[in-house]
Amino acid sequence: MLEELKQIEAEALAAVANAADAEQLTEIKVAYLGKKGKITAVSRQMGQVSPEERPALGAAVNQAKGAVETAISSRMAEFRSAQMAAALAEETIDISLPGTSLPRGSRHILSVVQEQMEDIFIGLGYSIAEGPQVEYDYYNFEALNLPPEHPARDMQDSFYFSEKMLLRTHTSPVQVRTMERMAGQLPVKVISPGVVYRRDDDATHSPMFHQVEGLLIDKHVTFADLSGTLLEFARQMFGEDREIRLRPSYFPFTEPSAEVDISCFACGGKGCRLCKGSGWIEILGSGEVHPKVLAMSGYDPEQCSGFAFGMGIERVAMLKYGITDMRLLFDNDIRFLHSF
Ligand code: PHE
Repeated sequence: MLEELKQIEAEALAAVANAADAEQLTEIKVAYLGKKGKITAVSRQMGQVSPEERPALGAAVNQAKGAVETAISSRMAEFRSAQMAAALAEETIDISLPGTSLPRGSRHILSVVQEQMEDIFIGLGYSIAEGPQVEYDYYNFEALNLPPEHPARDMQDSFYFSEKMLLRTHTSPVQVRTMERMAGQLPVKVISPGVVYRRDDDATHSPMFHQVEGLLIDKHVTFADLSGTLLEFARQMFGEDREIRLRPSYFPFTEPSAEVDISCFACGGKGCRLCKGSGWIEILGSGEVHPKVLAMSGYDPEQCSGFAFGMGIERVAMLKYGITDMRLLFDNDIRFLHSF
């Protein structure tokens, strides 16, 4: 009987080793260890052996059961992990991996500053006017009291297409276009942001840059209105402690004209590197609209008056964000663009 048991065990272990899958293993388990299994059958014959032989046979049966069980469960584990590996190999989405994030864009600092400026003036009741970048000499110069041969044309060295057409050198032509469009109606109250071009190129000048023009025409508009408006702008843009200072200047299209400085927001007016020790920083040109300019565009200087101003968006952005080289604004270096 011991001999027979040895054979059954060997047969069982061979079957386990040859099993092709988990199902076959289960069948083998039933065939040897189940109620009617071959090893179980041997243990049922215990009664037929002599009492002396029983312990040895009992031990042999338990040993055989154990050996077969261990073989089956280790084979089963092999099948399970192979199954898992196959399933994982087929799996193309690993939901435990973090997703690939799309790089997030940001707005250009000039757009941000332009919008801040627009918001301030919209809050003061201005609307936005636009004009072309390729402009007639008439709007860029003549209608602004800069006839041909006027020496002040040299202040703005220009890119010409022909004698009559050029890239606008400032946003002031939009003053003229707006007056024409409004056809004598009052009030005229617009700002005009946009691109302008000049033959300049260094750390603080670019051949292409941006300005915001302002124009207000109504009855009894005075220099005090100009000054109050610009003070309000300076405080909203650069902080509520700002003061402004108007210095006499010259533009052919304004009379009188003023260069406007703001008290330095870095040192509060004491004098520092940013304001070059003076306590003041120049930000724009302005003045009362010249009577000739009003008259040329259909407004009677006896009936109304106005003020205008023009400032560089790059300059405001550079001051506000401490940018020392204007060219950085146009280099498109993503590290710079993302730093605001
Ligand atoms: N257009 C002038 C410039 O570009 C600025 C300005 C605008 C001055 C309006 C007075 C009034 O230099």
